[in-house]
Amino acid sequence: MQISVIGLGYMGLPMAAILARAGHTVVGVDINPATVAAVNAGVCPFSEPGMAELVREAHASGRLQAVAVPQVADAFVLSLPTPVDHATHRPDMTFVEAGSASIAKVLKAGDLVVLESTSPVGATVANCQAVIERLRPDVAGKVDYVFCPERAIPGNTLHEMVHNDRLVGGLTPAATARGVELYKSFTKGEVLPCTAAEAEMVKLVENASRDVQIAFANELSLACHQLGLDVRRVIALANHHPRVNILQPGTGVGGHCIAVDPWFIIDAAPDVTPLMKVARQVNDGKPFWVTKMIESKVEDAVLSLGKKDKVKVACLGLAYKPDVDDLRESPSITVVEKLAQNAALDLLVVEPHVQTWHTESGLGLVALKDALAQADVVVGLTAHKVFKELPAGALAGKVVVDACGVFYNRVDVTWDVSGFHGRGASL
Ligand SMILES: NC(=O)c1ccc[n+]([C@@H]2O[C@H](COP(=O)([O-])OP(=O)(O)OC[C@H]3O[C@@H](n4cnc5c(N)ncnc54)[C@H](O)[C@@H]3O)[C@@H](O)[C@H]2O)c1
Repeated sequence: MQISVIGLGYMGLPMAAILARAGHTVVGVDINPATVAAVNAGVCPFSEPGMAELVREAHASGRLQAVAVPQVADAFVLSLPTPVDHATHRPDMTFVEAGSASIAKVLKAGDLVVLESTSPVGATVANCQAVIERLRPDVAGKVDYVFCPERAIPGNTLHEMVHNDRLVGGLTPAATARGVELYKSFTKGEVLPCTAAEAEMVKLVENASRDVQIAFANELSLACHQLGLDVRRVIALANHHPRVNILQPGTGVGGHCIAVDPWFIIDAAPDVTPLMKVARQVNDGKPFWVTKMIESKVEDAVLSLGKKDKVKVACLGLAYKPDVDDLRESPSITVVEKLAQNAALDLLVVEPHVQTWHTESGLGLVALKDALAQADVVVGLTAHKVFKELPAGALAGKVVVDACGVFYNRVDVTWDVSGFHGRGASL
């Protein structure tokens, strides 16, 4: 089948490459010229395990190419951003609407349009079908529309995109059947037919459920700290109960999904979603609490180190979760930006998964070994493997603050009762 994937980002490009590997002829479309050029050179423009090889192979097979403007195809898969407006907490569907308008020009009767972007309930009709039919009344009723949410996780995208179960919700039973056929052509998981509205809501529910559960763990971390208890130990012991499964607290919640999608439900049903709203606020508040805690430990460090000049604080990790290069909505960045406003601190920011990053004030990245060599205080913000595997003694003499569990159970750190901060020792 001739398939066009609109949007070649973290989800769209893996989808395009997997479809090409499954034997389809795929044309990817992106408004970013650098992305188009990279794909046409057989290069994946972002870091994701297995993607460099897959894009190279898909391109070499002749079944994957990229263009800037949509061309005629049999099926169109929209994988476009759906951010939230931070001021109003309302979904921003402008990318989906622009992508829908761009394919309207080349659509023909009998085509299939799949919206994969995480979207509010009703979006397949309101932000996709309606946009297309306004521009192309001649194809109204002659194109099949399906909503199929993407459930893969960065860091394991290729495996999950093929092995996860998929929801395929058409606007009509015939559309659902066509969508099921398309996804069965490459999916090893179950393909579950449903309505478009169900599929839209289920995707939001999945992420809202994670958000609420993480908020519980984050709230516990504050309570345990106040009560002089190690939250990770408390959770580990509680999880021995056969029906308790508490998640781990962290620096906060980030990324393009969990920190965003619950708002799409809250926005649509504000009177009946107090729990989801408070969970969002708890998770959004966590990096500010972490910042305050770091600052108080730095004050201790100043006293104990007898420092008169600025305290050097190594901040380890900017990505929103371990072992990825994705900085979107990252709570670690919130912490670093807040700490950067403290004139008493000299920050050494480490993020091994990205090449460049800087603030408007010129704060940039430092290599891990240089940061460790200079730092008075070492703060774990994102639990990257490379930080977990620091050799024994690497934190010797440093004040250590662990916001994300990256140093948990290190025997070369003398921890306080909360397990949140301590002092590194040489073994
Ligand atoms: N990244 C994830 O972990 C993840 C997981 C599941 C679902 N999702 C959802 O998938 C969707 C896409 O997310 P992503 O992370 O791949 O986004 P992304 O920002 O990585 O990629 C989007 C791409 O679309 C391109 N684009 C924007 N407007 C365009 C247009 N009009 N025409 C063509 N290209 C256009 C951008 O240049 C970019 O390359 C979102 O709705 C997101 O919520 C993301």
